[in-house]
Amino acid sequence: MALPKVLSLREHDSEDSERRTRIGQKTKDDKTQESPETTPIVRYRGVKKSFGDVEVLKGIDLDMMPGEKVAVIGPSGSGKTTLARLLMTLERPSAGIIEVEGEPLYHKRVGARLVPADERHIARMRSKIGMVFQHFNLFPHRTILQNVTEAPIHVKKMPRLEAEEKAREMLEKVGLIEHIDKYPEQLSGGQKQRVAIARALVMEPKIMLFDEPTSALDPELVGEVLAVIKEIAEKGDMAMMLITHEMQFAREVADRVLFTDGGNIVEQGTPEEIFEHPKSERLQAFLARFLGGVGGGGQ
Ligand SMILES: Nc1ncnc2c1ncn2[C@@H]1O[C@H](COP(=O)(O)OP(=O)(O)OP(=O)(O)O)[C@@H](O)[C@H]1O
Ligand SMILES: [Mg+2]
Repeated sequence: MALPKVLSLREHDSEDSERRTRIGQKTKDDKTQESPETTPIVRYRGVKKSFGDVEVLKGIDLDMMPGEKVAVIGPSGSGKTTLARLLMTLERPSAGIIEVEGEPLYHKRVGARLVPADERHIARMRSKIGMVFQHFNLFPHRTILQNVTEAPIHVKKMPRLEAEEKAREMLEKVGLIEHIDKYPEQLSGGQKQRVAIARALVMEPKIMLFDEPTSALDPELVGEVLAVIKEIAEKGDMAMMLITHEMQFAREVADRVLFTDGGNIVEQGTPEEIFEHPKSERLQAFLARFLGGVGGGGQ
């Protein structure tokens, strides 16, 4: 009896019935059907976001698997940053559900219902996620080491010595160990962005979000930052969402590439599928602009 009921409910795509089904499913199937390897670490379902009466995300469904590196490409204004900011809990979705490790980000389960979560729940969930922004926003009056230890000490309540040890380890990883006593203004843009990366890594997130981390940099500094991110991607087991206009980088680092346009994920696939065999005209046109003709299409 129970099984056909679940299946028939699954076919509904109204938000409420889907939500009820999924919660029902979870409590029942959580341990039996979804092993840790098959549970997406991030799951967007029917996620929408409006600013005023402008809908900038129009119903995003997206799963990211643990350790998966997902690049997001797409024209300006297509919703890439908003997609990441919702996961970082910097914006709330207008509709839909986001889950991290199978747990709703903005909601709590009470029996079979989802209710809006309190700030404590959201803060706990947020600690699983780190984000690197286009503008690094370091504290100007603190040293590099202090910039990196700030969050572990004040958010994670880590003892100072332990935080400093971890911070040194991360600054070593991004190649800045000899600069730890300097102030941000003494560093180049590329070095500052590497500090920002160390600052996110020190919190040991399970998911890292990079929002065009090199687009504010002088061209000669882009390479060093991409190299650091690439190394983290190759060595680390974190899932990563990489929003980027660096197509070659996306191609080299990503397991999967998403193309967003007009608030939707229009196409997704392996780097080869996306860059060598783009299907939609919109992606073909986008790539033609970037890569000088690859994918054809034109405008
Ligand atoms: N806080 C906000 N208030 C109003 N509109 C916003 C806000 N944030 C984003 N938008 C709008 O939402 C749309 C999507 O913006 P978003 O920043 O997600 O795009 P993007 O794909 O990251 O673009 P870009 O490549 O230029 O960074 C844009 O039209 C933008 O103007
Ligand atoms: Mg953006």
